Amino acid sequence: MIDLRSDTVTRPTAAMRDAMMAAPLGDDVWGDDPTVNAFQATLAERAGKEAALLFPSGTQSNLVGLMAHCERGDEYIVGQSAHTYRYEGGGAAVLGSIQPQPIENAPDGSLPLEKIAAAVKADDVHFARTRLLALENTIGGNVLTAEYVQQATELARTHGLATHLDGARLFNAAVATDTSLKQLCQPFDSVSLCFSKGLGTPMGSALVGSEALINRARRWRKMVGGGMRQAGIIAAACQHALDHHVADLAHDHRRAARLAEGLATFPAIEVTSQATNMVFVQIDKAHVAPLAAWLKEHGVLIELLYATRMVVHRDISDSDIEQVLNIIKRYFDQA
Ligand SMILES: Cc1ncc(COP(=O)(O)O)c(C=O)c1O
Repeated sequence: MIDLRSDTVTRPTAAMRDAMMAAPLGDDVWGDDPTVNAFQATLAERAGKEAALLFPSGTQSNLVGLMAHCERGDEYIVGQSAHTYRYEGGGAAVLGSIQPQPIENAPDGSLPLEKIAAAVKADDVHFARTRLLALENTIGGNVLTAEYVQQATELARTHGLATHLDGARLFNAAVATDTSLKQLCQPFDSVSLCFSKGLGTPMGSALVGSEALINRARRWRKMVGGGMRQAGIIAAACQHALDHHVADLAHDHRRAARLAEGLATFPAIEVTSQATNMVFVQIDKAHVAPLAAWLKEHGVLIELLYATRMVVHRDISDSDIEQVLNIIKRYFDQA
């Protein structure tokens, strides 16, 4: 199968599996796992933060990040289409008693500054306490500009808000803009980073921030069931990805651009956006279901649930891209 549904479908390489097998292990809930400890220290340094904490998933890392910032009855400002708000089961509200204050994302994924300012509540018993601004980078493949991030986080600080970034694909942003992870994390109090997307680990995310924030997060992580025992097996995969897979994201971006270029040649397909490793298209209504079925029949999977999206990742080669375009061409030739 050529699986373009998401970059989460990547499988660990043989070298990554070897690194996992060779990892020295201990009980991480006791703080005893040397591989976890080394990975967290390396990542914190690379992100320019005091501390890092390993999580099984990005959903849990975001949830615990929000819970480490906000108390019961607080609210966080977030985009309508942000993963934390839309695709994480409402965890902040359900498990954290944190009220989301969603505002509409601009087409580039940013949250308009005037809308952020307007959403901040006055200190009044009628209102939840506005405590946090959460952004996402990349969002829908788009990289938030450094200038925007600076302005949005400064605005948050002016209003006394903390800032969290869902950086599930922040390494894609780093590679696409040739910017260090440290620079991209610098404006935020906390950042959630995923290793199980384009970086190819079977699982593993991390939250980075101040020592105090990570200490609070460690308690919440335990409470929500994220205290893992011999977690070095996961940390070793994440460390391997950090050491060997980051630069490869540039290939994904180049291949996504080629895919978008090829798709744009079909009159029934409109490429609505392509950025980093994601391509969004609109397909003439009459062709959506039959084309998806044709693709599946010919070994290609695409995402149709949220939007018509194709995501390029390290298990997709140059020839896979050409093959997908060829299969689509054959569909339209016979349609
Ligand atoms: C932007 C974003 N944030 C967070 C997550 C959650 O990560 P996980 O699937 O590891 O829970 C995802 C997952 O696809 C994501 O796309």
